[in-house]
Amino acid sequence: MNALIIGSGGREHALAWALSRSPQKPSIFVAPGNAGTQQVATNLELDAPDPDAVQALVEAHGIGLVVIGPEQPLVSGLANRLREVGVAVFGPGKGAAQIEGSKAFSKAFMERHNIPTAAYRTFRRQDEAALRAYVKEQGAPLVLKASGLAAGKGAIVCMNRREIEDGLSQLLSGDQFDQAAEEIVVEAFMEGEEASLFVVADGTSWVMLPTAQDHKRIGDDDTGPNTGGMGAYAPAPVMTPDMMDLATERIVQPTLDGLAAEGMPYNGVLYVGLMITPDGPKVVEYNCRFGDPEAQAVLPLVTSDVLELLLATAEGRLSEIDVTVSNMASACVVMASGGYPGAYSKGLPVSGLDMATQLPNTLVFHAGTVGVGSLVRTSGGRVLAVSAQASGLQGALARAYTGISLIHFDGAYHRTDIGRKGLLHDMSLAAAPRSGSTRPSE
Ligand code: GLY
Repeated sequence: MNALIIGSGGREHALAWALSRSPQKPSIFVAPGNAGTQQVATNLELDAPDPDAVQALVEAHGIGLVVIGPEQPLVSGLANRLREVGVAVFGPGKGAAQIEGSKAFSKAFMERHNIPTAAYRTFRRQDEAALRAYVKEQGAPLVLKASGLAAGKGAIVCMNRREIEDGLSQLLSGDQFDQAAEEIVVEAFMEGEEASLFVVADGTSWVMLPTAQDHKRIGDDDTGPNTGGMGAYAPAPVMTPDMMDLATERIVQPTLDGLAAEGMPYNGVLYVGLMITPDGPKVVEYNCRFGDPEAQAVLPLVTSDVLELLLATAEGRLSEIDVTVSNMASACVVMASGGYPGAYSKGLPVSGLDMATQLPNTLVFHAGTVGVGSLVRTSGGRVLAVSAQASGLQGALARAYTGISLIHFDGAYHRTDIGRKGLLHDMSLAAAPRSGSTRPSE
């Protein structure tokens, strides 16, 4: 089996690593990949994931499974195009990917299917007067969101009038968000702790992988601007068995049933960002792909064959396979370039990678790196993540931070409080993943 992963981040390195452990001994290709993926796979050049270029790679390398990592090509319909030419694809088609590609769509979808989420209104950018009047009436705190894809930067949490004004200026000026903010969603602020669910679904059956918690802000104690994610741990103990029951019954099942009933059965991983509120779990957002860096914490906990999981999903036979997960805890800490998420330098040499990977149960997943001969150099904002597993969260965090301490590049930055909220909970780790099937529509 030849498998092709599309993307170049830490999530794609974690996917390539997970596939490389398959007993089916696949040949793995990553396009375009990074310096880490080339250690477990063959990197292929790909300037942009346009369908013609990806189809050419599939044909040239006899690919039997394509795994699409990032949201942009999913929202643009890459999965549809590949399926049309008979390729097995892990990832939703353009219709279902709207669940991430359009916040206006996803909020209206949740309303149609009575899925708990924050109260909201959607406005077109040109209806500025109505938008301003509504925001004034609501007052702070509230959340302003660009409806379209905005590389994780489209949600602006406004805690006071000043922040509302700044947020509106950013969204309305068109400079920063361009087409992504042609529609603007205004949401009520939700108080609580966040958690992420990863539901692998093949259109009729689904299985849930371990839950996780991301750390979106750049600074310790959740301060400073939003990033793509500075670290994650799994499972997230805030998702107690009772909370998992509620999330399954009120959110996961109705979401998959609703998509199927609307003619868009979901194939791929549905990432549900939750807020655990005093009224139970509510949806913050849906994503149509694995989280990054959550995948780097979650995938090492899957003990069954990940290639078989992704292939069976792509082929619609998920109910025929067993999916097993470890009862260990997993923690992942991101090392970023100094200045990220603002401007940062590139091309800095990275040292200490070999020492970190020799630690027990410790993995280094590359993101913004390039291999230059035997040297690894930085090439992005989030440079790499150290992911470690242990019998408890404390041990996993200690291992991940030991790995971080061994790696160096000029200006390297990481948060020092990853997992702290998790340590405040009683740890009760679920060993058996939940699963279910999509109910046929009436
Ligand atoms: N870590 C957040 C995301 O992948 O969207």
